[in-house]
Amino acid sequence: MTMKNEIIQGLHEVLDQRLSLETIDTILEKPKYEHMGDIAFPCFELSKIERKNPKLLAEELGEKLKGSVPIIDTVEAVGPYVNIFYNKKLVMERTLSAIQFEKEHYGAHNFGKGKTITMDLSSPNIAKPFSMGHLRSTVIGNAIGNVLEKCGYDVVRINYLGDWGTQFGKLIAAYTLWGNEETVRSNPIQELLKLYIYFHEQAEQDQTLDDLGREWFKKLENGDAYATELWEWFREESLKEFQTIYNLLGVTFDSDKSEAYHHDQTPKVVEQLKEKGLLQTSQGAQVVPLEAEGLPPALIKKSDGTTLYTTRDLAAAIDRKNVYNFYQSLYVVGHEQSLHFEQLRAVLSKMGYDWADQLVHIPFGMMLQDGKKMSTRKGKVVFLQDVLQKAIDVAKQNIEEKNAALEKKEEVAKQVGVGAVIFHDIKNDRRNDVDFSYEEMLRFDGETAPYLQYTHARAKSILGKAPEVSKKTNYNVPEQDWEAVWPLVKHVAMFPEVIKDAAQEYNPSKLAKYLLKLAQAFNRFYTKVHILQEDAYMATRLELIYAVTVVLREGLNLLGIEAPEEM
Ligand code: ARG
Repeated sequence: MTMKNEIIQGLHEVLDQRLSLETIDTILEKPKYEHMGDIAFPCFELSKIERKNPKLLAEELGEKLKGSVPIIDTVEAVGPYVNIFYNKKLVMERTLSAIQFEKEHYGAHNFGKGKTITMDLSSPNIAKPFSMGHLRSTVIGNAIGNVLEKCGYDVVRINYLGDWGTQFGKLIAAYTLWGNEETVRSNPIQELLKLYIYFHEQAEQDQTLDDLGREWFKKLENGDAYATELWEWFREESLKEFQTIYNLLGVTFDSDKSEAYHHDQTPKVVEQLKEKGLLQTSQGAQVVPLEAEGLPPALIKKSDGTTLYTTRDLAAAIDRKNVYNFYQSLYVVGHEQSLHFEQLRAVLSKMGYDWADQLVHIPFGMMLQDGKKMSTRKGKVVFLQDVLQKAIDVAKQNIEEKNAALEKKEEVAKQVGVGAVIFHDIKNDRRNDVDFSYEEMLRFDGETAPYLQYTHARAKSILGKAPEVSKKTNYNVPEQDWEAVWPLVKHVAMFPEVIKDAAQEYNPSKLAKYLLKLAQAFNRFYTKVHILQEDAYMATRLELIYAVTVVLREGLNLLGIEAPEEM
């Protein structure tokens, strides 16, 4: 049981179950200042129910709480608040022995056991560079997946490649007009991008080009041999390039059923929609009206008979339910597609699928550069591979300056550079836009991955220097040290709660922020307390440092970041 749950349970009993466990959970808050206690229960809600003065209630409740929950040391009623102080020594004993026993499994839960969650993440478009948006989807999705796995869920990561759609008609048209096999072979993605951009520039003056693009897409949908051959080639080249990025990021997938794969299932979906009488013709196109749902109609088939993004997503959603019988189906996709996912859910629900509400869109904000959106079409694009490489180079320079004698410099530089990019993307609430900045993400002393990795390595090195001590279970620290020790112990003890919250809110930034606090608490402890002083408390201090290394490392790994032993 987590510390917080113990308090919730205790309050629930002391209140004779007048408030539910869930309600108490939402009411409990963290006091603003450390000296005001570890957790606080405001009595406003209770006062409404009991029709009693909240101040009076706080006093009564405080009295009753004293001595009834082992983890509580003291209770103070301050105005309408019941401020609770944990029993420090007990929390420390429990936490340190739990970590000694569970090691990297510390913080795990099993409320997800037996449930499968499919997760649509990354899903870049072929024949285009891997964009910052896809980076966000990949790293945020991967971290959410890891955290859900830590809670017992079976997570199926699906890379739903964008390898179908009118844009491929345009690209094939462009290639047939201006393309050159050798040039494209020499540098596929950049050359294909050039063709694509050129096509759009020309199409602004020449209307017939868009028609030509449509024709080629129609040919592709009808299985035309030449169109298919080109498409397969573009696809293969793209996959090779994406794979180098996934290797650097250390991300793997369980399925790569793409848009094209599900395209083959679209006739069945269209048939079903027809049978249920959901399709209507509108200006030659087939749509599902969603007026009653307050949404614009969902486009299913264009007037030329070709399918759309939504059609393929409907097929994919149904296929996922059939194959995995998911408990939830997540889509980690930028917030500009929110409407699309609302429509998807609405159509599925009209089709009679009661699991439609198990589809969850997990939106995120945009990556900005100098306050502006990065766009592929206009050619204003940062190549992700260059970004990762530059981050690795800067990390290498930093290492040369700070620790030139380090072994495995190359490997550590890669872990630090890539980690910096990932953390920069995860640390803020995913719904916000992110301003892209190398300086910010690579600082060793800011809110960065290198800071966390460095703190981890520093803690490891202390353990490496420490004399052999016998393992104890009777942990203690001298009274004057608690001030620096307690915030650290408390943060280590909070790890399981943070994991649970991050999973339930699909919010890995909670974990990222928590790790920063933990590292700060550690660094404070490190400057205030003489760790390797051979006194009766050294074994406890070393156990505490060991616990910090376990949590920092596991926390970073859950975010998809490696923790080098030395740096
Ligand atoms: N390929 C799409 C894009 O880049 C994202 C796909 C998201 N997943 C989905 N099932 N629609 O915009």
